[in-house]
Amino acid sequence: MTQITLRRPDDWHLHLRDGEMLAGIAPESARHFGRAIIMPNLVPPVVTGEDAAAYRERILTALPEGSNFTPLMTLYLTETTDPADVAAAHASGLVTALKLYPAGATTNSASGVRDFDKVRPVLELMAEKGIPLCVHGEVVDSDIDIFDREAVFIDRVLDPIRRATPGLRVVMEHITTKQGVDYARAGGDDLGATITTHHLVINRNHILVGGIKPHYYCLPVAKREEHRLALREAATSGDASFFLGTDSAPHADPAKESACGCAGCFTATNTLSILAEVFEQDGALDKLEAFASRNGPAFYRLPVSEETVTLTKGEPVTYPGKIETGAGPVTVFDPGMPLHWRVEA
Ligand code: NCD
Ligand code: ZN
Repeated sequence: MTQITLRRPDDWHLHLRDGEMLAGIAPESARHFGRAIIMPNLVPPVVTGEDAAAYRERILTALPEGSNFTPLMTLYLTETTDPADVAAAHASGLVTALKLYPAGATTNSASGVRDFDKVRPVLELMAEKGIPLCVHGEVVDSDIDIFDREAVFIDRVLDPIRRATPGLRVVMEHITTKQGVDYARAGGDDLGATITTHHLVINRNHILVGGIKPHYYCLPVAKREEHRLALREAATSGDASFFLGTDSAPHADPAKESACGCAGCFTATNTLSILAEVFEQDGALDKLEAFASRNGPAFYRLPVSEETVTLTKGEPVTYPGKIETGAGPVTVFDPGMPLHWRVEA
């Protein structure tokens, strides 16, 4: 096969940031993707419907002339989130989902949830209205090894929340483990999982062998090879439980290349070429559309895009190593292999 045409992909987990960074990187997602679930972990976070409306306007302003990229807004769930505000923001169509960060789990998560009983009224409302909860699934306990934090979260937090809240629709965001794959696969129609581009490509050796590679460091951190293989199998299986959420998370290079570097891989620019390469390697190009364009809208109960994108196979594709933004340069994720699939303009 040398050419494939897909319904236009969507990104079900994206960090667009704000200000100069937003202006610099929004075109990178708008070029290929139709819609994206926009993460609310700004400083300060997007907590209320009013915050989301204002952020949505700033995103629309940052898009290139003529773009019809649609930001799907989320609210950052805090212990003081008002159920009535959530209900109104969802009913008006402004807000698509809520995001649960355990406090301290990742970049800008300090306002996240510590006591899950405090968010019970919001979760009940979400179950009743069918509003998805996007979950950053890692415990933050200092005695739990960072490589075990996802698996422990499933047992100690996620499964109890789901049992206590029948009907709650949950997206396990950016799963990185075999345990995440197994739990998502067994979870029925109200459970989905996003998988990032980079977790299909790198394992923890890529971060640590031969010198520390800050541009491969993200959260949840990449795990052992057996976990990467489980993610590959899940993504390329066509199973409707799994869909693309790039977690493209730009930080300016000085913030990554530091004694205490930020977590996040920036993949918006080359994600589709990487995915085509990965799916071709696994003999599953016919499943790419399910993963990138169909399973996500099905979970979110939205129509599949009416538009298409075409990828053509040929000489290795070139893409910029960095995106220059007003907030500094952002290094584009290096998949460590030539990419042969070009996205046609
Ligand atoms: C994200 C970010 O930088 O905002 N970083 C990351 O490594 N994925 C936060 C997140 O999604 O955990
Ligand atoms: Zn993220």
